[in-house]
Amino acid sequence: MAHIATTLYRRIVRPLMFLLSPDNAHSLVVNILAVSGRIPGVSAVVGVLLTRRHRTLETEWKGMKFSSPVGLSAGLDKNGQIVPMMRALGFGFSEVGSVTAEPCKGNDRPWFYRLPKTGSLVVHVGLANHGVKKILERLHAMPEKIQNNYPTILSVARTNSEDASGVEEGIVDYVTSIKAAKKSPAIQMVEVNISCPNAFGGQTYTTPELLDKLLAAIDKVKLKKPLFIKMPIDLSWPKTKKLLDVAVTHGVTGVTMSNLTKQREKVEFLEPLPDSVKGGLSGAPLRERSTELVAKTYKAYGDELIIIGVGGVMSADDAYDKIKAGATFVELVTGLIMKGPFIEELNSGLVELLKKDGYSHISEAVGAGR
Ligand SMILES: Cc1cc2nc3c(=O)[nH]c(=O)nc-3n(C[C@H](O)[C@H](O)[C@H](O)COP(=O)(O)O)c2cc1C
Repeated sequence: MAHIATTLYRRIVRPLMFLLSPDNAHSLVVNILAVSGRIPGVSAVVGVLLTRRHRTLETEWKGMKFSSPVGLSAGLDKNGQIVPMMRALGFGFSEVGSVTAEPCKGNDRPWFYRLPKTGSLVVHVGLANHGVKKILERLHAMPEKIQNNYPTILSVARTNSEDASGVEEGIVDYVTSIKAAKKSPAIQMVEVNISCPNAFGGQTYTTPELLDKLLAAIDKVKLKKPLFIKMPIDLSWPKTKKLLDVAVTHGVTGVTMSNLTKQREKVEFLEPLPDSVKGGLSGAPLRERSTELVAKTYKAYGDELIIIGVGGVMSADDAYDKIKAGATFVELVTGLIMKGPFIEELNSGLVELLKKDGYSHISEAVGAGR
């Protein structure tokens, strides 16, 4: 059944979507998923039809149960509208956000530009979201079964406005959202997004000094939920390492490797990208670079940091590569947009790959070497 859904998406839905502008297609899909997820029974039926249980992928970590190590990365469910449907598609966990303390309209449209041959999207959203208060209220309206049993990460960023662009104001902004996440029963983990490439004031907290200041303020919240940092992809390894040293000093749980790239010169484009199109690139161009970062981080900090690997995951092989490089969890966004509801396919593929390598559980493959 899952195979039929993916084929239908590729043959019918995707070509229709490509008739719409990427911005309209994106809004339409999110609205359809949001509305269908609110109709009682729909997500349960989708789940039964599209997914299977894979015991070799099931993990218990810090009291949470993950049906798969593969989750939805930040950016598709900015406003916490599609959690039930993402669970139904076979994701083991979801990110909501990035959310900010204040509602934010984001950048002027267009927000997206498709590069289908390159396997990438150019993203220039600028942290548009309804604000942490409204988004958490929406999540709290979900059935308790989902709130309690489906691990959800709140990705927190700084409001994209001039008011929050100073160092101190930015910290207050992050802390406001993290305090709200601390109290929320629908949020099991928090991710601090320091690497949005499209926000007012740039990536302020990607220096060791300022990251230290931000984390010192977050320490005072006493979150008591796992805390991840969403890392930039465009920094050199020595600079990345300095940030990781700071993260470890503050006892951060883990890091998510990595966000969008702005370094277009490093991308092998399979179609033209006009200079007038603004934004960071997702998808296939990040695949190798993010996996390399995962491998280096695992080697240097494997005992201290849990790694979520993200960037260009379009298949079970891509996910497995990140896991063998050292990622405990893997995420994707662009793969879902480009390939449709293929998560069950990805999960079954992972099971096959584990079997082929003689592993009886996914945890045995983490950091086993590429
Ligand atoms: C449409 C879109 C919106 C995104 N928005 C966010 C965001 O709000 N916060 C964030 O941390 N990352 C954001 N990202 C980055 C993704 O979470 C992810 O790190 C990156 O796209 C690499 O994964 P992928 O290749 O599977 O897309 C966004 C990506 C896309 C494609």
